[in-house]
Amino acid sequence: MTSTLITGIGELTTNDPEVSGTALVVEGDRVVWVGDGEPAADSRVDVQGRAVLPGWVDSHTHLVFAGDRTAEFGARMAGKPYTAGGIAVTVGATRAASDDELAANLKRHIAEALSQGTTCVETKTGYGLNVADEVRSAKLAAEHVDEVTFLGAHLVPAGSDPDEYVDLVCGEMLDAVAPHVRWADVFCEKGAFDEDQSRAVLRAAAAKGLGLRVHGNQLGEGPGVRLAVELGAASVDHCTYLSADDIDALAGSDTVATLLPACDLSTRQPLPDVRRLLDAGATVALASNCNPGSSYTSSMAFCVAIAVLQMRMSVEEAVRAATLGGARALRRDDVGVLRPGARADLHVLDAPSTTHLAYRPGVPLTHAVWRAGVEVHPST
Ligand code: NIG
Repeated sequence: MTSTLITGIGELTTNDPEVSGTALVVEGDRVVWVGDGEPAADSRVDVQGRAVLPGWVDSHTHLVFAGDRTAEFGARMAGKPYTAGGIAVTVGATRAASDDELAANLKRHIAEALSQGTTCVETKTGYGLNVADEVRSAKLAAEHVDEVTFLGAHLVPAGSDPDEYVDLVCGEMLDAVAPHVRWADVFCEKGAFDEDQSRAVLRAAAAKGLGLRVHGNQLGEGPGVRLAVELGAASVDHCTYLSADDIDALAGSDTVATLLPACDLSTRQPLPDVRRLLDAGATVALASNCNPGSSYTSSMAFCVAIAVLQMRMSVEEAVRAATLGGARALRRDDVGVLRPGARADLHVLDAPSTTHLAYRPGVPLTHAVWRAGVEVHPST
């Protein structure tokens, strides 16, 4: 195995209070040393005072889709509210797409994210909504991303009876998809699935051995957060509308509150009250929610900039939420940190500090990206 010394780091974010320095050594796909010296290595890269941080961990995306929803976005900007119903448009386009088209779209979006520093990606099914298309989506995702989530309970497809559809999701569909995924999710919201339906889906998935995630409290207060905590979900995502009880429940649990600020902007919702969550002691993650309907961006840097500029997170809190927070939401300890033993996922900024992510919003600041010990951007 060859080793590389990365030296000349102007600011190193490790997300581990015990680990600091201005240099690190990568060997194979791992970080093997972090410190202030210059240990011997097979090769050496001097980053000339740039900031280095862990690659972004984007713990919430919906990247298996075809088509786009430009018209819906335009209508929204003209004042029409976002509703769950738009999902059906993408379901139609996704079902109609060939395997090659779906794969090309997925790879294009992953490459786009990687070139901006995202080195660990979760993505969901949820635009198939029948057994064959959900299995196809799960298998495709499993070939290309780190973590895959079954979201058969994204919307009741047109023409289906809601209770019969929930039975299908909990039965034949779950049986067919489960071998290809680690997680299951449900869109617990008005216009999608109610509390009882959501609980049924999550319990069936847990009985199959899948970890749980919940889309909750996106369009109004509701049962999503409470249900996620009750069932020990790894994360509850959106959390745009939280009651005091929801915040207490999250603070007293292992369920990560995953905030999706780019989605809130794109759907003209308020931004979540992250300060109340952090002050109460909840664990917070930031993710892109990249999808063609509610949040068509793969930019984690954009999410960090919104979190700092508009949600009043400190830069340190926002960067941590977009790296370590995402890792916690995915219950992983090998990503989102830079310490010996971690996967060598490095994001080198064309800036001396992570402060520039908010200070220079919208500016492409990614200088280089390493994933699992390989420099993947810029591509050579
Ligand atoms: O997380 N809210 C549910 N699912 C996605 C939106 C999907 C869509 O509108 O296509 C989300 O925002």
